[in-house]
Amino acid sequence: MMKCIKAIISSFILVMTIFSMNEKCYGQEEDSYGVTPMEKTELNALYSAIQGFVGNSWNGSDLYPDPCGWTPIQGVSCDIFNGLWYVTVINIGPIHDNSLVCVNDNLEFKPELFQLKHLKVLSFFNCFQSPNSLPVSIPTENWENLAENVESIEFRSNPGLIGNIPSSFGLLKNLQSLVLLENGLSGKIPQEIGNLVKLKRLVLSGNNFSGNIPNVFGGLSDLLILDLSRNSLSGNLPMTIGRLSSALKIDLSHNFLEGKLLNEFGNLKNLTLMDLRNNRLCCGLVSSLQEMNSLEEMVLSNNPLGGDIRNLNWKNLQNLVILELSNMNLTGEIPESLSELKKLRFLGLNDNNLTGKLLPKLESLPSLNALYLSGNNFKGEIQFSKGFFGKLGRRFGAWSNPKLCYQVGVMSTKNVPYGVKPCHDQEEVHLVKSNAKNEIINGDINNNSNSIVSMGFSCSTTSGNFWWAFMILGLVHSFLI
Ligand SMILES: *[C@@H]1O[C@H](CO)[C@@H](O)[C@H](O)[C@H]1NC(C)=O
Ligand SMILES: *[C@@H]1O[C@H](CO)[C@@H](O)[C@H](O)[C@H]1NC(C)=O
Ligand SMILES: *[C@@H]1O[C@H](CO)[C@@H](O)[C@H](O)[C@H]1NC(C)=O
Ligand SMILES: *[C@@H]1O[C@H](CO)[C@@H](O)[C@H](O)[C@H]1NC(C)=O
Ligand SMILES: *[C@@H]1O[C@H](CO)[C@@H](O)[C@H](O)[C@H]1NC(C)=O
Ligand SMILES: *[C@@H]1O[C@H](CO)[C@@H](O)[C@H](O)[C@H]1NC(C)=O
Repeated sequence: MMKCIKAIISSFILVMTIFSMNEKCYGQEEDSYGVTPMEKTELNALYSAIQGFVGNSWNGSDLYPDPCGWTPIQGVSCDIFNGLWYVTVINIGPIHDNSLVCVNDNLEFKPELFQLKHLKVLSFFNCFQSPNSLPVSIPTENWENLAENVESIEFRSNPGLIGNIPSSFGLLKNLQSLVLLENGLSGKIPQEIGNLVKLKRLVLSGNNFSGNIPNVFGGLSDLLILDLSRNSLSGNLPMTIGRLSSALKIDLSHNFLEGKLLNEFGNLKNLTLMDLRNNRLCCGLVSSLQEMNSLEEMVLSNNPLGGDIRNLNWKNLQNLVILELSNMNLTGEIPESLSELKKLRFLGLNDNNLTGKLLPKLESLPSLNALYLSGNNFKGEIQFSKGFFGKLGRRFGAWSNPKLCYQVGVMSTKNVPYGVKPCHDQEEVHLVKSNAKNEIINGDINNNSNSIVSMGFSCSTTSGNFWWAFMILGLVHSFLI
């Protein structure tokens, strides 16, 4: 109802505006009338291209007779070249109240789209919805017509957009942003991506790309964001990823990548986020990791990496806020150097094969508010203070460490760590029983622990920076999956 009233009011305002503009112009001389002409072919190409995305019932010439002038289309922008209007931006999808939205019927990339030779930005969102009935592929031909000007291509949330990335995308030499997020695309990532030397952002997340990641990143020295997460990519990490010296974020999580971490990681001096979780990476923590001084989030969990956690001098990673190393088959004791990461808020070491005593010094980390240690072989008495347990609450997890115990009397009963027995033998029988109950509670905590990472993450991102917002979306999203 409100929406309807709003729409009526805004169309009223639009009509009034056109009316008053007309009135003003009638009073002026003919040649200052103010209409910049547009070629008929450009105009019809615009109508047709949009019709391809929003459906044939949309009649542009009827609704928007002067789309670059007095009847602007939400999401479409134009610019003047040699005294004529040309379309430079097409954004389709439910972003604003009056945005063009796709209907679910006979959608296609119309050939006329490729006549819009000044187009800089093409994006659509929630468009091709039905992968089963009428799936659509990205055309393979004619992208060269747009090569001079197109800077940004973004197709998001289109499950009915299937097939490969055409290799002709490699002709779009001025492309700065290629975002193909959450579509139904598959096949290999084409080698030709390596020709896009102006790329700042490459996001292919949430499709079903398979095969190796092509080793073509050597020339992409402007790339800031590389997100290939949530696909079916396999093979080794390509070495040229180590040449993305400007990169801020690399997310290759939720694939089937295998082999070693790269010795070249040390070159990524500006990287703030590296997420490689849920892959099949092996062969230990390479020492290049400790050279990534700008890193704020390191997420390597759920990889059979193995090796000793003490192989790195963690102290070098002074900017770390999130360190997620769970389920990696790590061995060794918690190194002292971890207790020097002053900005650390989240530390996940659960489900490894770590041994020794819990490092009491971890308590001195000023920002730490989540610590997961469950599922290891830690032993002895937990020496954290009552206040520390109070602060962390359920964000402390140490269950499934059979030789670990807590000191009776140190903490109030409500802060007793779940699944950990007290250090008195005689109470053990009784508590082994209640452990079974705790297992159930802990199952829940385990589930929640994921969302805590993302919460910690979003708390640290009030800077308003666009990339940040983008990363949070990615992370939170993948945690939800
Ligand atoms: C759009 O509307 C105009 C005028 O009403 C009409 O002449 C034209 O055939 C329509 N075009 C389409 C594609 O429906
Ligand atoms: C993704 O691609 C792989 C390999 O091509 C295929 O085996 C798998 O079934 C696909 N998954 C989905 C969800 O389509
Ligand atoms: C890294 O970031 C700094 C500061 O933002 C910037 O001056 C520098 O050019 C960046 N380095 C690279 C290789 O992009
Ligand atoms: C974990 O590491 C040990 C060697 O320390 C190895 O024998 C075992 O296979 C590894 N487990 C997995 C799941 O990779
Ligand atoms: C875990 O560590 C213990 C002691 O070091 C060792 O006996 C055991 O094989 C390890 N398990 C795995 C899966 O690595
Ligand atoms: C997580 O929660 C889901 C549904 O709430 C449940 O099926 C699953 O077993 C839980 N996982 C763990 C590890 O407890």
